[in-house]
Amino acid sequence: MTAKIIDGKKIAAELRTELRQEAARLKAAGMPPGLGVILVGDDPASRSYVTAKERACAEIGIYSSDNRLPADTTEDALLALIARLNADSRIHGILLQLPLPPQMDEGRILLAIAPEKDVDGFHPSSVGLMMLGRKTFLPCTPHGIVQLLARSGVNTVGQHVVVIGRSNIVGKPVANMLCQKSPTANATVTLCHSATMDLAHFTRQADILIVATGRPNTVTADMIKEGAVIIDVGVNRVVDAARTSGYRLVGDVDFDGVLSRASLITPVPGGVGPMTITMLLHNTVQAARDALTRRA
Ligand code: GUN
Repeated sequence: MTAKIIDGKKIAAELRTELRQEAARLKAAGMPPGLGVILVGDDPASRSYVTAKERACAEIGIYSSDNRLPADTTEDALLALIARLNADSRIHGILLQLPLPPQMDEGRILLAIAPEKDVDGFHPSSVGLMMLGRKTFLPCTPHGIVQLLARSGVNTVGQHVVVIGRSNIVGKPVANMLCQKSPTANATVTLCHSATMDLAHFTRQADILIVATGRPNTVTADMIKEGAVIIDVGVNRVVDAARTSGYRLVGDVDFDGVLSRASLITPVPGGVGPMTITMLLHNTVQAARDALTRRA
């Protein structure tokens, strides 16, 4: 068996075409969607993610306000900026790029974002509603994964999904979303993490394996079941002298190794990444639509 590639770029492009039309409709109705972007510090990976998110906004007709603060910014200064964006009627969503510098209390800062502008779905109110299966902003990477599976024709109902990684951004929410009783979830979910003993014992049982550890080669061919669907969330820079940049991007899975055993696999780059950005656009358009409904 040679795995088929799940083309995240193509699926993201289809969704973005729909979002472009909706953004134009909202603009015509007097509610052009707006995103407030905040980056604290100058981590190169975060900088490139934020740039990609702002470019994607421009491409589909979302106004974005760019707010870059130095790494030694105080919590109070960041909270003041969030308060300004919360009060700004042109801004419907706030994207605070994580991680924050170590002097900041991430939990305290995320709590300050108005839940109706929480397009990342990281506010405790959004997390609680998600867990209860109620309507809210869903976190972008997990939502993108659910969409990738659904739009690639992968049935998750009753399937064994194994997730590796328990971050608040990916592992915990994707495990939660996929066990909800809905047609695009309803899976049996196992959540593995750094203290899991005999990881391969669990991964070999996976019909769908989602890997979000931030470590290249976390999963190798001997660790998967024949025909498994592999979702690789990792984005790791490895040294590559042949490239002008000096590095290349790899995921958390030994892509070449598992290719002959898996049925479907996401590439890195071009798999999950474009979907994360697309779901941010989706949530921002949703936030503008909600604002229009509140105004009516
Ligand atoms: N850092 C890594 N992933 C994300 C994400 O989806 N949103 C934000 N805000 N920061 C991140």
